[in-house]
Amino acid sequence: MERLQKMIAKAGIASRRKAEQLITDGQVTVNGRTVTELGTKVAETDKIEVNGVPVEKEEPVYLLFYKPTSVISSVKDDRDRKVVTDYLPEIDERVFPIGRLDYDTSGVLLLTNDGDFANKMMHPSYKVEKEYIAKIKGIPSKEDIRKLQKGVKLEDGVTAPAKVKLLSSDKQKQTAIIQIIIAEGKNRQVRRMFAVLGYDVIKLKRERYGSLTLGSLNAGDYRMLKPYEIKQLYQLAVT
Ligand code: URA
Repeated sequence: MERLQKMIAKAGIASRRKAEQLITDGQVTVNGRTVTELGTKVAETDKIEVNGVPVEKEEPVYLLFYKPTSVISSVKDDRDRKVVTDYLPEIDERVFPIGRLDYDTSGVLLLTNDGDFANKMMHPSYKVEKEYIAKIKGIPSKEDIRKLQKGVKLEDGVTAPAKVKLLSSDKQKQTAIIQIIIAEGKNRQVRRMFAVLGYDVIKLKRERYGSLTLGSLNAGDYRMLKPYEIKQLYQLAVT
């Protein structure tokens, strides 16, 4: 027996939180009866439907995509811009991105149809590290680097301690390359952290997600994760 929201999430229909919403909104039936109570236990043999569409279990898939810039971290866009799934024509499963990278940000983006796994990776309490390389306008002082490391105040809260390192700077052009490692995933977090201190991010790339780096992938390419890599990510997601 498994919780209803978990079963829906596992089927790749929605994240666990979205699945909970579907249930409380009365869009889910079990064996023909609407169920609005979260945590209802269901068996593999129960017939679950979301808005009348049967929930069929897909094999879970996990992939690492090198998102190019000028691509939306979504499976569809109402303005017809390029989306990540445009790059995955061979993938039949209903995968969705784990978190998002901005339109202008490139780098590691994980996709899956396993809502439970996605939830684990994204939740800030699990503290999976994400490493970014940012090119910024201006050269930050040691004091500013320290502020970023300690945490800066954004409109949705103070950022958790981060690892921040000045890799290089160009005095003539007044630009700097910074490595920044965060374990949270607030919306546009890196850009906003620099903005608070008055720096514009010119270029942003996610080099690493947990234990996964881009390796030899080219922008726009993807690869399936290996079982041991999925296991490693689970192990990194500690509370
Ligand atoms: N922080 C940002 O500002 N943008 C991203 O895409 C990811 C992290």
